[in-house]
Amino acid sequence: MNNLIENTVRFVKEKLKGAEAGHDWYHIERVWKLSKKIAETEDCNLEVVELAALLHDIADPKFHNGDETLALSVSSEFLKNQQASEEVIERVLFIIKNISFKNRAETPENLPVELKIVQDADRIDAIGAIGVARTFNFGGFKNNLMYDPEIKPKLNMSKEEYKKSDGTTINHFYEKLLLLKDLMNTQKGKEIAADRHNFMLQFLDQFYKEWNVS
Ligand code: ADP
Ligand code: NI
Repeated sequence: MNNLIENTVRFVKEKLKGAEAGHDWYHIERVWKLSKKIAETEDCNLEVVELAALLHDIADPKFHNGDETLALSVSSEFLKNQQASEEVIERVLFIIKNISFKNRAETPENLPVELKIVQDADRIDAIGAIGVARTFNFGGFKNNLMYDPEIKPKLNMSKEEYKKSDGTTINHFYEKLLLLKDLMNTQKGKEIAADRHNFMLQFLDQFYKEWNVS
């Protein structure tokens, strides 16, 4: 491992001590590994991919009073201290700024390949069995209801329907997790996501069966 990557691993581990289990060092480690796996199939700058994967959740606005610039300033200061080149810093910051589902680009085809890779990796870690576990962990952390049987969420809900079911953990599958497989950028990402998507459909089926004791 090169020195810069090694130092970044140490820095991120330290920064994320005590983080919510769905956004902790192990999430970063999985996204880093997935990014490297996808990068093998793409023509890209691996150092930029690895640094962005490692730093992408260094200061998630969800856990920092909605501050969307903190991750950028923390990463920028760290990379400057590490004497990373201006070009690498700029490319890594661009990825951190644009990776989020909430702020997704309207024309993702034109994004840099390094962003496409890390974004796919981050989204893959949001689905499948790990996705289920992270989502329920986050819901528990927020003390949300797992499911409200009065409100049945579905895909492509209207704004009104969406507002009613907002706030339950099961709803998060319909507002985000089940949409991710169609948002994959890379061929490898699509392959990995397809399998995990099917697992979530099975999980939801079984969840409703058991909820209704049928
Ligand atoms: P992004 O940074 O790409 O916008 P988030 O950080 O909001 O994505 O989401 C990452 C993961 O956190 C989700 O995939 C999910 O597991 C969990 N999460 C986020 N919002 C919720 C929610 N409202 N209910 C349950 N889990 C959530
Ligand atoms: Ni992430």
